[in-house]
Amino acid sequence: MMSKQRYFLSAFAALTVFVGSAAASQPSPQNKRAPTPTKPPQIANELDNELSALITQFGITGHVAGQSSAPNINDPIPQLGMQLFFSKALGGEKSVACASCHHPKLGGGDSLSLPIGVNAIDADTVGLSRQAMNDEIDIPRNSPTIFNVGLATKALFWDGRVEQVSQEDEAGNVSTFISTPDSGFGLADSNAGDSLVEALSRFPVTSVQEMRGSAFNDAQTNDDVRSHLAQRIGDYGVESGGLATNAWLAEFRKAFNSEADAPSLITFDSIDLALGQYQSSLTLVDNNWNRYVKGNKNALKPAQKRGAKLFFTQAAEGGAGCVNCHGGERFTNDGFFNLAFPQYGIGKNDDNADLGRGLIDPQIQNQFAFRVPSLLNIELTAPYGHAGAYETLEQVVAHYVDPETAIDAFFERGGACGLKQFAQSSQCELLNANARVNSQAALTLLQSSPFVAAPLDSAQQKDLVAFLRALTDNCAKDKRCLQKWIPGPKTVDPDNLRLNVLSRHKG
Ligand code: HEC
Ligand code: HEC
Repeated sequence: MMSKQRYFLSAFAALTVFVGSAAASQPSPQNKRAPTPTKPPQIANELDNELSALITQFGITGHVAGQSSAPNINDPIPQLGMQLFFSKALGGEKSVACASCHHPKLGGGDSLSLPIGVNAIDADTVGLSRQAMNDEIDIPRNSPTIFNVGLATKALFWDGRVEQVSQEDEAGNVSTFISTPDSGFGLADSNAGDSLVEALSRFPVTSVQEMRGSAFNDAQTNDDVRSHLAQRIGDYGVESGGLATNAWLAEFRKAFNSEADAPSLITFDSIDLALGQYQSSLTLVDNNWNRYVKGNKNALKPAQKRGAKLFFTQAAEGGAGCVNCHGGERFTNDGFFNLAFPQYGIGKNDDNADLGRGLIDPQIQNQFAFRVPSLLNIELTAPYGHAGAYETLEQVVAHYVDPETAIDAFFERGGACGLKQFAQSSQCELLNANARVNSQAALTLLQSSPFVAAPLDSAQQKDLVAFLRALTDNCAKDKRCLQKWIPGPKTVDPDNLRLNVLSRHKG
């Protein structure tokens, strides 16, 4: 729960920073951070004890719910899902694959502040070399990672618009269902399937900017688009012959162990099922923090232990208070909060604002609110925040220490024009339209919310970042380990439309 203490104007924030660092020079607990080379083991022990009390207090076990029931990538349906995830055939104009924005070798995201979909100059690029035609950015939000999305139990998307809902009727019977943009907020989508990630996988293909482009002119609804795609992959109906090469039926038959014909086997339901299973197999939760929690006291470096202590300690007690929202084994409470990360880019409204959760559930506390992201593997998924405004974890942490100064610093760097992705862009100033006004509006709301700035000095900020780096699964940063989630030379390419970044560079 959030502390009741309120966050006041920046003058007060500056004061708390000052008090925080003054306290550090007194013989207080913070002083243990100072390097005292004479007796480090003793210091580590005391810190370990403090941490173990916090771990107990917050009920942390080092085991993430659902991790052991995740699908295995070597099983047939996840394998089919991998083929689909990397196929540009799911893009209306056959130019974009899911992996174009969610590549395992880019931390499950795209390493961009704002993604580039159908208007990429070169379809077979990912990351910073993926550039938009005329530098035109037409997607408002950062691509989140697909790592560990199968473990999410409450909601997906930055605003949680694919959501698990529980409702109680007058008789006290509780029903649970998945709500999506198709059904509308709080209503059941009967086509959502069994999991959030499966339900979500039905949407990117319907987005004109992300994947659809100008294809399927007669399609009126999202389901019409999905039906065109299923017929294209299945080589039947109006899309029969839609792919020059098509060996998908054999792959679906193998995966589902069925001899059924294409119209009954290759539906969008089976496509999103396979996509969901592939993504759910990307469970990457084996990190040094969990090893530490399970008893290996050497799994964390001293700086990481100091950072962990700050993370789990309230700001009022000199900590950073991160646990209030990023608690639990997945490092999220799945709530929605306005943190006033800078607003820039095309946004969602005419005035370029992105109200986040406020757009679908317009209560005052939802204005500019976004879903609390998991922090697992966070060092691999820069840039950060709903629009990728911060490029480093240091910048994110600085925002929590003093939001107003961090937002000013973003604009002093040039706003959008200061971001690596837009360094060469002739159009970056367009992405700054109304950005200051909208960022200020979000900040004003933050300042009247219960949020408490973290009173951390610069050494403590470094420790906190060091701790965030302890949340990385070794496999997630190991190209060889990740190879099993990327189609290899032996994986059938059923339509010759595989996103193939590597061969492209070789060729
Ligand atoms: C052009 C880039 C792009 C492509 C292509 C794309 N996505 Fe995404 N993806 C995004 C963005 C941006 C978001 C966040 C949108 C939002 O929250 O409003 C997102 C969100 C998601 C999420 C939710 C993650 C979370 O933590 O909330 C999942 C899962 C996902 N995409 C899977 C897919 C799948 C499956 C495909 C292919 C069918 C796909 N994406 C294609 C950019 C892309
Ligand atoms: C009041 C709830 C809350 C608290 C407290 C909080 N966060 Fe967050 N955090 C969020 C939300 C919400 C976002 C997404 C904000 C956005 O995108 O606009 C976020 C985003 C982040 C991100 C970027 C994640 C990504 O995938 O892009 C990092 C890193 C992060 N927080 C770390 C921290 C740290 C470290 C602390 C403690 C100093 C902290 N947070 C405290 C709610 C919170």
